[in-house]
Amino acid sequence: MNPNAQPSIKTQRLLLRPFQLTDAADVQALAGTKEVAATTQYIPHPYPDGYAEAWIKTHKPNYIRGYQVMYAVTLQETGELIGCIGLDFHKEHESATMGYWFGPQYWNKGYCTESVKGLVSFGFKVLKLNRIQAKHLPRNPASGKVLTKAGMTHEGTERKSTKVRGTFENMECYAILRTDLSY
Ligand SMILES: CC(C)(COP(=O)(O)OP(=O)(O)OC[C@H]1O[C@@H](n2cnc3c(N)ncnc32)[C@H](O)[C@@H]1OP(=O)(O)O)[C@@H](O)C(=O)NCCC(=O)NCCS
Repeated sequence: MNPNAQPSIKTQRLLLRPFQLTDAADVQALAGTKEVAATTQYIPHPYPDGYAEAWIKTHKPNYIRGYQVMYAVTLQETGELIGCIGLDFHKEHESATMGYWFGPQYWNKGYCTESVKGLVSFGFKVLKLNRIQAKHLPRNPASGKVLTKAGMTHEGTERKSTKVRGTFENMECYAILRTDLSY
């Protein structure tokens, strides 16, 4: 595998591929919705012009340095961009933290679960990680459902560990180990 070229990942209905600058308008439209901002920590709202381009430009250097891998989730059938999923690496621990968002019009069709499974499988089988973890706000139960469906275990609750737009909130913590993988 070329360490500088991020491989794409195919699942049953989806193609997870690197973002391109031409995705910026779609990213702004999807990530810029109030529904996505409501349960994420780092997506600005309102979503400024130029922010998506600047964000996409960070992906390649972050990938090459081994900090992060970020995927545009697209529908195989139409090529439509529907969301984003990525991993932040903790190299010394051979682990990673997963994050994701999808445009509200694409929710509840199993796309996030399919993406999480695809990326978890890639993370263990190709990247040889030992552990993949993820967190969600208690007021975002759909995210917990996704992580459970993808085989993650609920490891506990961090109390008021996160300040989201001025308010301290708990975080629900999940993880899967390479030895847990059943798909
Ligand atoms: C969380 C999110 C990624 C889920 O994406 P998705 O593609 O709808 O997820 P899936 O369709 O794979 O699975 C969602 C599951 O949650 C369930 N669900 C939806 N709303 C729910 C709720 N209020 N309470 C409990 N379960 C809920 C769905 O029924 C589905 O489970 P099922 O397949 O057993 O029926 C999406 O809602 C999103 O992008 N939200 C905004 C950004 C965000 O919160 N990102 C995650 C930060 S941790």
